Amino acid sequence: MKKDTVTVVDNASGRQIELPVKHPTQGPSVVDIGSFYRELGYFTYDPGFLSTASCQSSITYIDGEQGILQYRGYPIEQLATQSSFLEVTYLMLNGELPNPTQLDEFSGIINHHSMLNESLKSFFRGFYHDAHPMAIMVGVVGSLSAFYNDSTDITDPHHREVAAHRMIAKMPSIAAASFKHTIGEPQVYPGLSYTGNLLKMMFSVPCEEYHVDPVAERALDLIFILHIDHEQNASTSTVRLAGSSQANPFACIASGIAALWGPAHGGANEAVLNMLGEIGDVKNIPEYLARAKDKNDPFRLMGFGHRVYKNYDPRARIIREMCHEVLAKLGDNNDPMFELALRLEEIALNDDYFIKRKLYPNVDFYSGLIYRALGIPGNMFTVMFAIARTVGWVAQWMEMIGEENQRIGRPRQLYVGAGQRDYVPIDKR
Ligand code: CMC
Repeated sequence: MKKDTVTVVDNASGRQIELPVKHPTQGPSVVDIGSFYRELGYFTYDPGFLSTASCQSSITYIDGEQGILQYRGYPIEQLATQSSFLEVTYLMLNGELPNPTQLDEFSGIINHHSMLNESLKSFFRGFYHDAHPMAIMVGVVGSLSAFYNDSTDITDPHHREVAAHRMIAKMPSIAAASFKHTIGEPQVYPGLSYTGNLLKMMFSVPCEEYHVDPVAERALDLIFILHIDHEQNASTSTVRLAGSSQANPFACIASGIAALWGPAHGGANEAVLNMLGEIGDVKNIPEYLARAKDKNDPFRLMGFGHRVYKNYDPRARIIREMCHEVLAKLGDNNDPMFELALRLEEIALNDDYFIKRKLYPNVDFYSGLIYRALGIPGNMFTVMFAIARTVGWVAQWMEMIGEENQRIGRPRQLYVGAGQRDYVPIDKR
């Protein structure tokens, strides 16, 4: 009879242990190594978590080999083309799609929480005018915990829900206020659809009428859906780890924003546009490809490669199509940056180095081009990502806190430092 276990033999001592195998609804099975140290006296070593599942989750499923992404079981392609950001947000938080009454009520709650406390606004003035908006986001989102003491008791499900709604609702307002601060314009109050609101708060000024362009609104809504969640990526794992110490949810989301900022993660969208600007012309592509392949050169092709996808990123496929559509509708389809991106993609996809390593364009390769066409400046690209990903962070945090027997996250290490040695007084060194 087939057994649902994996046997590990310690060849040094001859000891043998049998570890249980857990089966997911989709994807590879998982060996439960919780007893490994107790039984064999070894830690396991897996830097970068290449083979390690850090938690159990029922929110997002990815099959990197096939290029599949599902939220709560629904294929991303269906959600992207048929749903809306707030509807998918409801799905992520509650596990099921809303009916019309539930969606109406939920949209009302998010709208209700979208304003910022007037005192919070003074925080923005504390930042220097050229502060990166992501720096402002980390600080201001963290400071929300000082304003909402009535929703920081993580043992109370109602507190958790109100904190979740507040963060999702206030992110566009905080993002727009960060942007307005850096360009010296007054903050604008919210009051439209989720993404329409964001555009209005970023681009309108009190002295002029502003109409949200429906093409821009729909494009942003779709990009936001694509960015909502991506299971246990670096920023989401950061949120879970911070949350496992029972830190308040606002502090946890601020830690996620900080982790997202790096160019290997959410900062890649800004880095792609900087890279395209640096390449400048199709004729320079071979030189930059050679640099990306040179192990002695730190240059990497930004927007290419993914830890999980070893096939085309399904989000990139959707966003690539949208890129054509948005640029055509906004009258920017002759954008030389877009031409350059398409040529770079084509050349890289036919290059042996990229083929062998299964390096395909990821979602960030195209999102920056759309943001640019919408008039969003480069330093706000990662902020856009953070607004959408807040939904995923919050859903994952709520899932974790709601678990029975939730334990603090505490990895082990392979210590390679000095052995024990005696202190030498300073005058003897
Ligand atoms: N350009 C050139 N070579 C690359 C690239 C790249 N963008 N990405 C990976 N490689 C090479 C890498 O040098 C390695 O080669 P070798 O096997 O010869 O040593 C091989 O491909 C495997 O790469 P890795 O570094 O082991 O892969 P990883 O899973 O640790 O890193 C990654 C994944 C996304 C950090 C990396 O591909 C990368 O730095 N890409 C550029 C940054 C980027 O676009 N990030 C956005 C990711 S998608 C949005 C998000 O989820 O945040």
